[in-house]
Amino acid sequence: MNSFVFHNPTKIIFGRDTASQVGEETAAWAAKVLLVYGQSSIKQSGLYDRTLAALKKAGVAVVEHGGVRPNPVLSHVREGVKRAKSEKVEAVLAVGGGSVLDSAKAIAAGARTDADVWDLFIGKAKLEAALPVIDILTVPATGSEMNGSAVVTNEETRQKYGFGGAPMYPKVSILDPALTLTIPRDYSAYAAVDAISHLLEGYFTGADEGVPLQDRLVESTVRTIMESIEAIQKNPKDYEARATFMWCATLAWNGLLTAGIGGFGAPSHMLEHPLSALYDIPHGAGLSITIPAWMKYAAGKGNRKVVQFAERIFGITAGSPADKARKGIEALEAWFRKIGSPVRFGEAEIPAGDIPKIAALARDLAEAWALNDYSEQIIAGIYRDCV
Ligand code: NZQ
Ligand code: ZN
Repeated sequence: MNSFVFHNPTKIIFGRDTASQVGEETAAWAAKVLLVYGQSSIKQSGLYDRTLAALKKAGVAVVEHGGVRPNPVLSHVREGVKRAKSEKVEAVLAVGGGSVLDSAKAIAAGARTDADVWDLFIGKAKLEAALPVIDILTVPATGSEMNGSAVVTNEETRQKYGFGGAPMYPKVSILDPALTLTIPRDYSAYAAVDAISHLLEGYFTGADEGVPLQDRLVESTVRTIMESIEAIQKNPKDYEARATFMWCATLAWNGLLTAGIGGFGAPSHMLEHPLSALYDIPHGAGLSITIPAWMKYAAGKGNRKVVQFAERIFGITAGSPADKARKGIEALEAWFRKIGSPVRFGEAEIPAGDIPKIAALARDLAEAWALNDYSEQIIAGIYRDCV
């Protein structure tokens, strides 16, 4: 086990009817707040009206910044920064899924710097401070509710980049599983793939292979996600399954399960971001294509954890390590297909002829994330396995 510091400052309020606490929780940080939300879901569910009523009751003034789209874009973040500055808001309240939270976090950081907010994403400016962020999460998937990162696409360059740091952890995240009962079947699948991917990146690539507790925590969380999503797809109104999945997704990417594993990479994400940036597919739908392809590449290089994954997640015990790895990858692909997430480019309408363009974008990201083993050639080779 490597030495580590684990310091996650986000206060989580979890359970039924917790969204009603948004007024007092926001008032503890601000008298005037920028309310960031998406396209239509919170208006349809009534959460928008309830949030405004709770803020009014708590005496919090509201400036609105709605219209965040899935795979959120830089131009909308820039507008939010302008509004936050001109209206002198004291905090940002996000109500929605990961795209809304990420936009809100980027706006919160952009509002506290004179630099262009994109400079924070590309490392040209340093994150020094951010307005306090509070959120009500309506899609569990990304872990954004309990981490310090934000991911946004620059529409001009098609770069989908992230940045983060201590100032960007939400102060308070309100997680009411009942708010997730309306998430459709296909998006429940993409959310599950994303949460599983966050568990697997560290598990497969961590520098220290001798961390049995973290391995087993990851494996049990993956299995729990698989069970809960199957239950959700059978009965979308299953509160217990929604609650179980919601907490799994938060724990999957809040730093707890990577503590002690040493340095690790996120190659499946490096390979996915160009797909959702170029073709506007859901992040999870891109990951169900890139994860198995990356696992084939890693297994070919003798990655022992891919074999352990096959043994412990799918109970594959017969055959050589290479056989087990292959069967484990096939089983994972079959499960992705079963829940309705694509596993090949064609299933997501991604043209194979675009591989050079996709690989060039991924190579830039690999460089930004110090994934130095990934040349453009290697990346293109992995993408060819996605066809
Ligand atoms: O815009 P609205 O109308 O709200 O609709 C959304 C959107 O269409 C809808 N929705 C939200 N809550 C709902 C609901 N539908 C029914 N019932 C509800 N309760 O769901 C759609 C998808 O929402 P989105 O926020 O885009 O989904 P998700 O939470 O999966 O976020 C994905 C984004 O997060 C990034 C991804 O790349 C992607 O851009 N990520 C962020 C990370 C982070 N900050 O740590 C890490 C991840 O790896 C990921 O990169
Ligand atoms: Zn992800």
